[in-house]
Amino acid sequence: MTETDLADKSLDFWLDRAVPRYTSYPPAPAFHEAVGATAYAASLAKIAPGDPVSLYLHIPFCRELCLYCGCNTAITHRNDRIGDYVKALQKEIVQTLALIPHRPKIAAVHWGGGTPNILSDKAMREIFSILGEMCDLGTIREIAMEMDPRRTNQQQIELLAACGVNRVSLGVQDFNPDVQKLVHRIQPAELVEKTVATLRTAGIAHVNFDLIYGLPLQTPDSVAETARQVCTLRPSRVALFSYAHVPQIKKHQAVLEEAGLPGKYARLAMDDAARVVLRAAGYREIGMDHFALPGDALEQATASRNLHRNFQGYTTDASPVLLGFGASSIGSTADGFFQNERLLPAYQKTVGEGRSPVVRGVLTTPEDRVRGAIIEELMCYLDCDVAAVCERMNFSIDRFEKAFALLHEMERHQLIELNGAKIRLLSPHRMSVRVVCNAFDAYAPASVASRAA
Ligand SMILES: C[S@@+](CC[C@H](N)C(=O)[O-])C[C@H]1O[C@@H](n2cnc3c(N)ncnc32)[C@H](O)[C@@H]1O
Ligand code: SF4
Repeated sequence: MTETDLADKSLDFWLDRAVPRYTSYPPAPAFHEAVGATAYAASLAKIAPGDPVSLYLHIPFCRELCLYCGCNTAITHRNDRIGDYVKALQKEIVQTLALIPHRPKIAAVHWGGGTPNILSDKAMREIFSILGEMCDLGTIREIAMEMDPRRTNQQQIELLAACGVNRVSLGVQDFNPDVQKLVHRIQPAELVEKTVATLRTAGIAHVNFDLIYGLPLQTPDSVAETARQVCTLRPSRVALFSYAHVPQIKKHQAVLEEAGLPGKYARLAMDDAARVVLRAAGYREIGMDHFALPGDALEQATASRNLHRNFQGYTTDASPVLLGFGASSIGSTADGFFQNERLLPAYQKTVGEGRSPVVRGVLTTPEDRVRGAIIEELMCYLDCDVAAVCERMNFSIDRFEKAFALLHEMERHQLIELNGAKIRLLSPHRMSVRVVCNAFDAYAPASVASRAA
């Protein structure tokens, strides 16, 4: 049976379902306000000396709005506004780290946005200096930053390299000039090329690219052409994001409907077309939407089954504690997940008054953690031995009777292969793994789960 035969049988079964991308389990919509600053402080107090801790810093500002953007960001040309936010961010870092009874040992730092590289050199230096004072950065493995290539220059890149940044994710999105114009993200290929060269000359060897498919004017051929151009620049990793259209939350996205969004089969064809190009250029597929060159840490982690998934996507970071700083950031500890206030004025006011900006979260139960482990394994490797996870985590597999009923239905639709309690994705469309994960999601709306019943 060819891949195409298989796809035809399993496609409609999963394609229309709105399911999370499982960057956490429980997923963010399950967070609630009964869990907040007090629970977070209690959890931080339990961090033991030597426990690896990772940090996420959110910079929610951009100079211009890309019409497809689904990120938590605000558009501003006022540097004083960014300056006020940076002051709050610094204060939050100091206040939060003071709740840990020792100087934490940092494994990795991730700067996300918005556009982290919108910060002035002075602000960047100050934040790194606070981290250096309050944390042990001696054995840090990775400092990564999301970067808009339109907003950087040689001086900034050299500063970042000097501060220890060793991985940068460039927002490339699409090289087609018509698509760029339509989505208000004009970014000539030469600019990306020059930025990659500057990063590499400065010693930042690990360069990732973010791409998006599913936008108006894109076709499988145009997306494949972008992928070909990407391959000539040899980024270590490529994230191939399927465009998330949520105009009810991100109102600016609605205008893209006028230009005609591609249908579900066209989107699949775009995904396939980009994959063919990336695979042929030597990239290995990672999880549902990432690619890495052989030898890259993500590729090695996949081969040795040490891959993880968190709010930044696929990662090699295995730290049990992630501290999130900045508006809307999410942190996680052994006890659960904790999210900061999303709105900038409220975030800044709360931190300014010396209080924690954590406003919602969820404390995980042993069952949540088992479901989370199964979902993470599926998202990372597209397979999972559920019995082995249950044995490892001392949990009765009988609790998954309902999940297996859904899985048997998926098997009949040739989405997966089931061998006892061993699940393997059969569909060639890796994005469909989210639907398999959904079978283990006890927080999934009944309407989603029942469609598989
Ligand atoms: C938070 S942005 C940071 C990068 C930086 N702001 C830039 O655009 O260059 C991370 C990535 O999210 C992706 N992204 C943004 N909006 C999206 C959407 N609606 N659906 C899917 N991916 C999206 C883009 O590929 C973007 O590069
Ligand atoms: S895609 Fe990046 S640069 Fe564009 S608006 Fe969103 S966060 Fe800002």
